[in-house]
Amino acid sequence: MNNPISNDRLIIFDTTLRDGEQSPGASMTMDEKVRIAKHLEQMRVDVIEAGFPIASPGDFESVKAVATAIKDSTVCGLARALDKDIERAGEALKSANSARIHTFIATSPIHMQEKLRMHPDDVLAQAISAVKKARQYTDNVEFSPEDAGRSELDFLCKVVEATIEAGATTINIPDTVGYNIPHQFGELIKQLIARVPNSDKAVFSVHCHNDLGLAVGNSLASVLNGARQVECTINGLGERAGNAALEEIVMAVRTRQDVFECDTNINTSMIVPTSRLVSSVTGFPVQPNKAIVGKNAFAHESGIHQDGVLKSRETYEIMRAQDVGWSDNKIVLGKHSGRSALKSRLAEIGIDLESEEALNAAFSRFKDVADRKHEIFDEDLIAIANESQVALEQTLYHLVSSWVCSETGETPHAKVTLSVDGKEVSGEADGGGSVDAVFSAIKSIVKDHGTLELYSVNAITSGTDAQGEVSVKLEKAGRQVYGSGSDPDIVIASANAYLDALNKLALANDREHPQHDGI
Ligand code: KIV
Ligand code: ZN
Repeated sequence: MNNPISNDRLIIFDTTLRDGEQSPGASMTMDEKVRIAKHLEQMRVDVIEAGFPIASPGDFESVKAVATAIKDSTVCGLARALDKDIERAGEALKSANSARIHTFIATSPIHMQEKLRMHPDDVLAQAISAVKKARQYTDNVEFSPEDAGRSELDFLCKVVEATIEAGATTINIPDTVGYNIPHQFGELIKQLIARVPNSDKAVFSVHCHNDLGLAVGNSLASVLNGARQVECTINGLGERAGNAALEEIVMAVRTRQDVFECDTNINTSMIVPTSRLVSSVTGFPVQPNKAIVGKNAFAHESGIHQDGVLKSRETYEIMRAQDVGWSDNKIVLGKHSGRSALKSRLAEIGIDLESEEALNAAFSRFKDVADRKHEIFDEDLIAIANESQVALEQTLYHLVSSWVCSETGETPHAKVTLSVDGKEVSGEADGGGSVDAVFSAIKSIVKDHGTLELYSVNAITSGTDAQGEVSVKLEKAGRQVYGSGSDPDIVIASANAYLDALNKLALANDREHPQHDGI
């Protein structure tokens, strides 16, 4: 898919796998990235930024795997304005049906003087040469003047004109540090489009960070002023305070068609399943009052509101929960449901289990959960699918069994057996409570366990038999990782979340982010 320069179409460029992964602790494995990419493809995201291939061998392999797995969306790789970065991106994207290289160099006075220590003329020359180099690999090239939001307009116009002339088909204007205010950022886009003589030869894009909570506002103001691509992430994940949230951009434009002269191609019913998947993979919980994907986004608490909604839904609802993928809280399956019922309900909520192996794993997990929790809701199915996929992945530690004794007046005691690289190892320990005892028992086996920085439990549905969804954050030598797990038994959910984090810690290579060492 090349840049369709059409005025009524807003291109959605998702960077969950690249900028989203730059959230401290949000690192994802290659399998997880492919799983998320497939959800994004099903959501009809136009461009998936799969990673930064030069950053590490792991990033390179992930971009390559996503490029191979994805057929309908364009797959993009990030590269600094350096030959070696662009060559690596080109190599990683070789197998893509449709590939884009995204190259960038900073253009703000502070970045050029303090970080790059380069003269503006040299920055300009390097930007042009990078775009030309990228065009040797693909005719779909995006250029970003990093920190455009604090760059001088005349210089920015010069760089944009020259990079379009050199062959960039998308010009992305980043508010790298989230400094801009909507009316000002919208005006910047308008000025650029008006002043750059060849602006009609490229799609103008924006990439806004959320340091002042304005990433979505700035992106939408840009769309009103001619931007036709927005870069965003699921759940607003991203460096520091994050990026513009995809779900908010898409639903604002869709809901306010009276204001926007364009629309996206997004299948909005995939929004909630994808949000849940990203949350479960990264271990970053979604706050309950988060727009569109928060648990309370469509809940009405006050009597006046409930009364209004019962009389006419539109009194207090501007969107339909089902349109973004929330289910209507019906019991969908039970313990007597078969494999085909499971498969078809999962497909209805946007989860396609492609292989027989994946369906078998999901079905066995489903039977296990349904035995202990008789009413299975869509939210349970999303968790079951996520958990069963994790079990299929090649990880170092797996929970084989656990036993906990907790009695009034006695110190809780736990025994666990883990599979460590295929070999069964057991350990036991006391703890302040059942979860603490299980974690201590795991620690007696896994010596390299870092420090536990966060532990949180959330009920996926209501009732005491609800599945608990546990998030765990570990820290070791400045590196943070998150893990998540779900189960009707919160002690098991906790053990799974802890092991998920330990697996990520074990996998974590010393990945630098070259974006930060300043070329
Ligand atoms: O925030 C930023 O400037 C970026 C660029 C690489 C587009 O992420
Ligand atoms: Zn960014």
